Amino acid sequence: MQGVVDQFRALGIPIVGPTAENAALEGSKVHSKRFMQRLGVPTARFHTATTPNAAREALKDFRYPVVLKTDGLAAGKGVVIAQTPQEAENAIQTLPCPLVIEEFLQGEEVSFIVLCDGKTAVPLEPSQDHKRIFDNDEGPNTGGMGAYSDSRLLTPAQRSQILETIINPVVHATQYTGFLYAGLMMTPDGPSTLEFNVRMGDPETQPLMMRLTSDWGEALLASATGNLTENHLQWTPDPATCVVLASKGYPASSESGQPISGIEDVVNAQVFHAGTKRDGDRIVTAGGRVLGVTATGPTLQASIDNAYAAVSKISFSGMQYRKDIGAKGLKRYN
Ligand code: AMP
Ligand code: GLY
Repeated sequence: MQGVVDQFRALGIPIVGPTAENAALEGSKVHSKRFMQRLGVPTARFHTATTPNAAREALKDFRYPVVLKTDGLAAGKGVVIAQTPQEAENAIQTLPCPLVIEEFLQGEEVSFIVLCDGKTAVPLEPSQDHKRIFDNDEGPNTGGMGAYSDSRLLTPAQRSQILETIINPVVHATQYTGFLYAGLMMTPDGPSTLEFNVRMGDPETQPLMMRLTSDWGEALLASATGNLTENHLQWTPDPATCVVLASKGYPASSESGQPISGIEDVVNAQVFHAGTKRDGDRIVTAGGRVLGVTATGPTLQASIDNAYAAVSKISFSGMQYRKDIGAKGLKRYN
């Protein structure tokens, strides 16, 4: 199997990213869970099922809530947390097989992303996504409605534990290159891996880019040429927050073609475009998640305030966003 990274390498052109083989860590949850099990990387206890009946059988081995995941890529919509047997049955009828059925883990979710060069993994700062569509983590999962990055999300001891038990085993077993994203649950028994992505996270990337102080190009070149060191990634201690502005109907559907106003009035923040396009001299919506409005500040609260001050300048018909991005962090640290 030849992916773009494999083909560039064959031609001697430097490139940042995983090989096609390593990309399967994200592309297939069944593969990724089995791989973690083989390496002894901490992850939720699970069964795999290739038919709905096998899934019903597997459910007998779990308490509720239980988690059901479809095998392939599903833009954050392939995971159901079933509170009751009826909800699990509904999930079996909607999610395409094969399925992973796994125990529900309790704890704080943290996104831990590393840049790798085949031997060395250098961590980016920790961040936290907000996957549910509505405030207080209610409603269905989305691709991500906002994120913040704050160094206090993980202690130095937790960072070392994650590198030792999760990241380094995977990087060494796969000679991993590019970005590896571990979606973690910080359980009372330690960090457990919910998923791997083989890229930076969206919307985690936006606050991380605001905190980066070193030369990104140099870090990427070092990753592509096998010369990566800790020094390549430097960060401001200031936290950063990204609020996603989404279209009406997201995540079930999304409206497009709505003119967006106010982007030029934003100060003290960066507006990252996602689902937008040019229409003559206007910018219009073109997808579910439209903009990532991102700001830093000397405190987490200040970064949140700056991000929402920028959001208040922007509008389009049907615009929806969460009002509580970062609130979990404030609660934890106050
Ligand atoms: P995933 O695509 O596997 O990261 O799952 C999407 C989201 O579902 C995660 O970010 C969690 O919020 C939730 N989730 C997935 N697996 C579990 C689990 N075993 N226990 C609790 N929540 C989970
Ligand atoms: N924010 C999670 C992801 O990018 O998959």
